[in-house]
Amino acid sequence: KPEKPTNNTTKQSSWVSPDWLTSLAQSLSIGKDDSNIPIANAKLEDVSELLGGALFLPLFKWMQEYGPIYRLAAGPRNFVVVSDPAIAKHVLRNYGKYAKGLVAEVSEFLFGSGFAIAEGQLWTVRRRAVVPSLHKTYLSVIVDRVFCKCAERLVEKLKTNALNGSAVNMEENFSQLTLDVIGLALFNYNFDSLTTDSPVIDAVYTALKEAEARSTDLLPYWKINALCKIIPRQIKAEKAVTLIRKTVEELINKCKEIVESEGERIDEEEYVNETDPSILRFLLASREEVSSIQLRDDLLSMLVAGHETTGSVLTWTAYLLSKDPSSLSKAQEEVDRVLQGRSPTYEDIKNLKFLTRCINESLRLYPHPPVLLRRAQVADVLPGNYKVNPGQDIMISVYNIHHSPQVWDRAEVFVPERFDLDGPMPNETNTDFRFIPFSGGPRKCIGDQFALLEAIVALAIFVQHMDFELLPDQNISMTTGATIHTENGLYMKVSQRQTNSAFAASSSSSR
Ligand code: HEM
Repeated sequence: KPEKPTNNTTKQSSWVSPDWLTSLAQSLSIGKDDSNIPIANAKLEDVSELLGGALFLPLFKWMQEYGPIYRLAAGPRNFVVVSDPAIAKHVLRNYGKYAKGLVAEVSEFLFGSGFAIAEGQLWTVRRRAVVPSLHKTYLSVIVDRVFCKCAERLVEKLKTNALNGSAVNMEENFSQLTLDVIGLALFNYNFDSLTTDSPVIDAVYTALKEAEARSTDLLPYWKINALCKIIPRQIKAEKAVTLIRKTVEELINKCKEIVESEGERIDEEEYVNETDPSILRFLLASREEVSSIQLRDDLLSMLVAGHETTGSVLTWTAYLLSKDPSSLSKAQEEVDRVLQGRSPTYEDIKNLKFLTRCINESLRLYPHPPVLLRRAQVADVLPGNYKVNPGQDIMISVYNIHHSPQVWDRAEVFVPERFDLDGPMPNETNTDFRFIPFSGGPRKCIGDQFALLEAIVALAIFVQHMDFELLPDQNISMTTGATIHTENGLYMKVSQRQTNSAFAASSSSSR
């Protein structure tokens, strides 16, 4: 097909405009437009994979064919796909020039005006209000009172599977664990999803699935209000969001009453309330001028951003360790040596060096989310002299950057030691955007320390007490939503480790 000149990238990308016909036509052409960006020739089977499956896999294939930047016009959408650290750095650091775009569109039904998708002044003000709540004293209290407690509960539950020999879906268990953790850490609310079913938990999952489904829907019919009232999936999603919002509103109101009645105010730099160390309590005690709805939406942003992401990190780290027995025994030896049979404290964590590197390496191989989305607000020139027009959607494939042989040696291999054990925690700055699991620039994850501590504690307690192996003949394939997850679960046989019989007594007496 001859190259097709097009200027459709100058317009705001919209799924319900005739632009998508242009995009579709463009997807069938090969070559370059005046932006210098090569156009990927998406085949029909790849496009269907893009819509229903693991989005990042065809993006990786095209990177190998078209290089570290290419234009993808798949059906109604047109994206510039970036797999190069320098270009990613440029886009992520220049927040004023690049907004969240599509992410905000697909998750607004749940986040409302929450700061994870807000822009401009609202985002600046709310991020500034929330960040101080995640201070060091809060984290050290939460390690002990929430991370350890919840992980110990998981281990107790797994002991039953160990005894009766039943296979256990670790992905599901890690997801429940991280929901319990984030509920307690944010609002001092115990979902208790590890051991009970409740309508609120179902609602959280329904809403998360809806956000995932929206990100790959071909036609965004849910933008039309009237349709949301009659389509069963939308009715279900709306009910779920109503229930979640009501639950969080009740928690806010209850907490507000307590704070008011006690006349509580933040009176020290790293303030933590002894009876309720939650972020909600901190935010209310800080007496920031904020409406209950904004507070609700900010907390919901954190609930969603902090739940499935950390669950997925644990899932894939357990998977990688189950495939690499020598790394698993190294991690277990370290945990036994450092912890001597007890649960970790905040101070112990810096000594769990190898285990931490396993989590870093897992985040490299399985970043969540695997792609970051931005939309250009103004015309810009990317490093390498690639031009983008206002309205251009950009996909930064973190997965591609983390798997690129141009960026990493033995990129596809799990090598925890590739990050110096005695070196700093790898991040976007000290790797010059080669390692960006928490993004970078002004909209970087605010929960990175929280998430790393949570994952280290949960993994340490898991490997301390459990041996585990993959159920044979499982086809572990990847799929995506907001995170990389398995298509059918991660089933394992677990058995209790013999080396730690002293633990049960020591851990229960120490808490
Ligand atoms: C943003 C990853 C855990 C709260 C982000 C972003 C990434 C990310 C990549 C930036 C998205 C972008 O640039 O478009 C992760 C991973 C986690 C994790 C991999 C677990 C391992 C958490 C936790 C919390 C949290 C535990 C809350 C306690 C947030 C919030 C934002 C965010 C609120 C939006 C920040 C903003 O837009 O200003 N996260 N996250 N995340 N994350 Fe996390």
